Amino acid sequence: MSLLVPIVVALALGFTVVAGGCPGAHRNMTIEAACREACGAAPAPAPAPARAMYQLCIDSLRDDDGSVDDKTGEYAYRAAWRALWAYLDTMGRAWHFLRNAELAAGEEKAAYAFCVGGRYQDAEAAMDKVQSRLPEHCGPDTGGEYKRALRDVAACRDRVAKLPSSPLLAMVEADYNRTILAYLLGKLIGVN
Ligand SMILES: *[C@@H]1O[C@H](CO)[C@@H](O)[C@H](O)[C@H]1NC(C)=O
Ligand SMILES: *[C@@H]1O[C@H](CO)[C@@H](O)[C@H](O)[C@H]1NC(C)=O
Repeated sequence: MSLLVPIVVALALGFTVVAGGCPGAHRNMTIEAACREACGAAPAPAPAPARAMYQLCIDSLRDDDGSVDDKTGEYAYRAAWRALWAYLDTMGRAWHFLRNAELAAGEEKAAYAFCVGGRYQDAEAAMDKVQSRLPEHCGPDTGGEYKRALRDVAACRDRVAKLPSSPLLAMVEADYNRTILAYLLGKLIGVN
């Protein structure tokens, strides 16, 4: 974990989410029900990809303290935070590789610079907008920010995937999944 993680956690804990009012929003679901609905799958007989997403969802929301009124809004908010925190962690790792000449060669450096110098910053800005709007604002502008974050993380992933091998690829793929999960939970509270 990077040094940024405790900072982000501290920020997240200092914030209380108020009940949202999005049309068509699911409210007050249990974590299991929200994850099943968002991921379109029950855990057991579901195909492997849906099961993986369901498990990521459960793991991401597990530490919910159950104290808020609009639980589903809290899940969406929390998933956006988890995505942001994962982006920061990945950026920290990429900067580490960039700063240490012996860790990354030319092509690898160019790919990491492409990610942290642009696409990840854009993804972070987009997800930051999402979490600042949730759970009250679920209009198409919020949906657009989720899509921007997805597009930017995917651009980084596709670039890193072209390298012969990269220790960053698994992190970027996981970030992509976290971004999808955040969007799916956003849809649950009415984002489209
Ligand atoms: C991302 O999610 C897919 C399923 O949606 C899963 O198959 C894959 O293993 C996940 N990748 C990571 C790195 O978590
Ligand atoms: C959610 O459930 C709690 C108790 O289970 C209840 O007090 C609260 O009013 C509910 N909130 C909504 C928005 O339905």
